[in-house]
Amino acid sequence: MNFKEIVDKKFANKELSFEEIKFCVDCYMRELVNDENMTNFLKAIYDNGMSNDETYFLTKVLQNSGVSLNLHSMGITNVIVDKHSTGGVSDSTTLIIVPLLASLGISVVKMSGGKLGFTGGTADKIKCFANLKNEIPLDEAVEIVKNNNGVFLTQSEEFAPADKKIYHLRDKTGLVDNVPLIASSVASKKLAVGADIILIDVKCGDGAMIKDLRNAKKLSNLLMWIFKKENKRCVTVISQMNRPLGDYIGNELEVYEAILILKNKLNNNLLKLSLFLCGLIVQKAFGVDNYEAYNLLSQSLKSKKALKKFMDIVQAQGGSLVLFQDRIPYKKHKIKSSKSGYLFVNTAKLGELCNYYDSVFKQFKGVHLLKPIFEFVEEGEDIFEIITRHKNLQVENNVLNVKDLTNEDLLEIKKQFQSCFQIRKKKPNKCFKLVENVVLR
Ligand code: URA
Repeated sequence: MNFKEIVDKKFANKELSFEEIKFCVDCYMRELVNDENMTNFLKAIYDNGMSNDETYFLTKVLQNSGVSLNLHSMGITNVIVDKHSTGGVSDSTTLIIVPLLASLGISVVKMSGGKLGFTGGTADKIKCFANLKNEIPLDEAVEIVKNNNGVFLTQSEEFAPADKKIYHLRDKTGLVDNVPLIASSVASKKLAVGADIILIDVKCGDGAMIKDLRNAKKLSNLLMWIFKKENKRCVTVISQMNRPLGDYIGNELEVYEAILILKNKLNNNLLKLSLFLCGLIVQKAFGVDNYEAYNLLSQSLKSKKALKKFMDIVQAQGGSLVLFQDRIPYKKHKIKSSKSGYLFVNTAKLGELCNYYDSVFKQFKGVHLLKPIFEFVEEGEDIFEIITRHKNLQVENNVLNVKDLTNEDLLEIKKQFQSCFQIRKKKPNKCFKLVENVVLR
């Protein structure tokens, strides 16, 4: 077989066989072809799409590049669930869902990626707990789940290594918003973990990789088709991403927000969606109705069992608990509205700027929205704040390649973020519906 001929075949919009797809991925993994060659292969898929069969083949190749777990045979006796979001902004439901479910005796082995394009990734957020390890050997991960019912993992040399390498390349080359590439990447990780129940939250809107409902349904159907072929119980939800889901954007701030929610100090859309998704899983796992599921989840939140569970999991993975403290020395830089009108936001740009500044400046932590998007604001009202952290916490994060933030940098950052917000006279005609669609199998 010849790599270039296969890429040309895909550029000519012809269907590839399992062997051809495997050959291309293997060549890349064995460094027989370089990033540029592999980018061509991905570009051919990006331009021409893939049939369901091709997407399934790519899924299996990515999954089988590493180990696939059989967690029950390794001594985990609880129901095992897994959830995944296809990528949005301020979407930290995972940080709430994993401890909530774990606190109810449901095991969650969560394998996530890092940032992809302008969207955030759980793998980056969870690393904000200084010293936390999420690339851990299988036996250690299983031990953590046995003791705590939950673990946060990422792709590694052991788990879905081909997805790890291709995921980074897609991030670098912008080949991210594509239904078969997303479906195969997500499904490969979920199949490698081998949970009993899989929940996929397909994000749809301006602030998601999938912008419209038609493509969101396509992605949801494709994922259901793949999981059905693999005989997996699966739930897909299509949820709105026309504004950031939570009120905080930025890796550390999203961790902070999830902790505030688990401390019962915040009630917002992020909590609503997390409870909705957890509710679907609890109904399936325990065979209870919606009402009973909601009761179980509320009790866990009220009693702070889920909060305690989050701390246990973080600690078991070697992470510092400093971010659980009540007083974190954040510095807030408020920005006022220059006129009265309805507040709009460019969610994707907001996500992109947060990812960028987070990777450049040590003290930059992100943005906190102070007014609900799409609502009326008065001239002079504070609409958002940029959050920085100048004093070190007891343990500083493991960030090496970042520079110090100066006052000039801060001025530029304010200007850039201001350009993400618009105040318009006309009332928005879109009504904000958090969940668009649910499919259960
Ligand atoms: N999450 C993934 O794991 N992969 C994607 O391509 C998008 C979201």
